[in-house]
Amino acid sequence: VSIVVDLFALAHGGASIGSIVEGPPELIGKKAFVRDTIPGERVTAEIVKDDKSFVTANLVSIGTPSSARMTPRCAYVGTCGGCDLQHMSIEKQREAKRHMVETTLARHAKVEPRCGVKLRGHQLPAFSYRKRIALHLDEAGQLGFYRRGSGAVVDIDSCALAVEPINKVMQRLRTVSTNLTRYVEGVVLEDRADDVGVLLKLRPGAPLSFPELAVVREVFPALQIEESGFAPEDGDQQGDDALGHFSQVNALGNQELVAEVLERAHGDELTELYAGSGNFTLPLAKRGAAVTAVESDPLLVKLGTKLAALDGLSERIRFVQDSCERFVRRHELKPTVLLDPPRSGARGILSAIKPALTKRIVYVSCSVPTLSRDLKQLTEMGYSTESVTVIDMFAQTHHIETVTTLIA
Ligand SMILES: C[S@@+](CC[C@H](N)C(=O)[O-])C[C@H]1O[C@@H](n2cnc3c(N)ncnc32)[C@H](O)[C@@H]1O
Repeated sequence: VSIVVDLFALAHGGASIGSIVEGPPELIGKKAFVRDTIPGERVTAEIVKDDKSFVTANLVSIGTPSSARMTPRCAYVGTCGGCDLQHMSIEKQREAKRHMVETTLARHAKVEPRCGVKLRGHQLPAFSYRKRIALHLDEAGQLGFYRRGSGAVVDIDSCALAVEPINKVMQRLRTVSTNLTRYVEGVVLEDRADDVGVLLKLRPGAPLSFPELAVVREVFPALQIEESGFAPEDGDQQGDDALGHFSQVNALGNQELVAEVLERAHGDELTELYAGSGNFTLPLAKRGAAVTAVESDPLLVKLGTKLAALDGLSERIRFVQDSCERFVRRHELKPTVLLDPPRSGARGILSAIKPALTKRIVYVSCSVPTLSRDLKQLTEMGYSTESVTVIDMFAQTHHIETVTTLIA
């Protein structure tokens, strides 16, 4: 079924949302989600799914293109599932993300920050910013990312989002990847201070060593191997090599993120939850704060503890290796709580935060839906939202990073 849609906003997941203005009479006024479009455009689209309150449709043609419409830089746009906003200017992407955060929080969490929803980092690069990528390798030897909307692999030569050293290593990997197809299902490449780390993720049941590995090791002598179903090995075998463990993927974006957290997380005493290897902990302690940093990954705790000692900050930083859920049940939280949970959010720890003790919360999030859910709960607990800052750490994709400050 063909429809004409007036798009008015970016929706979660990369499509734009609009109202149906032409088509079958019963559909006029109904909401439609259309990928590859831009808020402000009028488009013709073909319905692929009709749900009760909205339809999903594929773009057929653009009636009035937005002045923000761009020719995608990357040849894989449309097939590769990685980027969904390359057809939009970077300025439009950022404003559309900011607007989406503002309206989602207002509608679903009933939160309207006292100082509004602001964008930080207008100067951040639009391409070549990722210092880590995770590639899939299928049994036919295709090396790349998942195809849009499926688990099939799109073979790629280079990624427009990755930093140059990663793309160089990807080319070298292609020369030997046929040796890996039987045993390896994924490859992580990470740009580090003096090299690009290579981690092979084995298929279920694959042996830790196989004859063809020698050929690959000739090209990548320092490569690492991870068994299927196992967490990355901890530091006893691998020194302090945190390949495969969490770290921020956008170095310049991270500078803005850390600066924003430092501006928001005042206070002499902080509890930091989901601390990683101390991305925020170390700068906070450097400035004089005493920080208790909780993180479940033993290798990241070990790395953070070592970095704190190297910087002479051990007196002010206490790293705790524990799940945050368990930690908050057993310990009183400090006047300022900083948290940076994974995409699933922080539901399991929120009720342990007491407005009588904790006056300020700084919540770093990489998922608008779980942030919105959690802010609703914190509001019901008596906190009010002071500010929300959007930092575009994931340009060309629908992913959104935010820093929210709440006060009791
Ligand atoms: C989004 S990362 C943030 C890390 C750090 N703030 C940074 O900027 O590098 C989330 C971290 O939480 C840790 N994590 C996930 N679930 C956890 C839990 N239930 N308890 C403690 N840590 C957890 C992960 O290992 C990861 O390091």
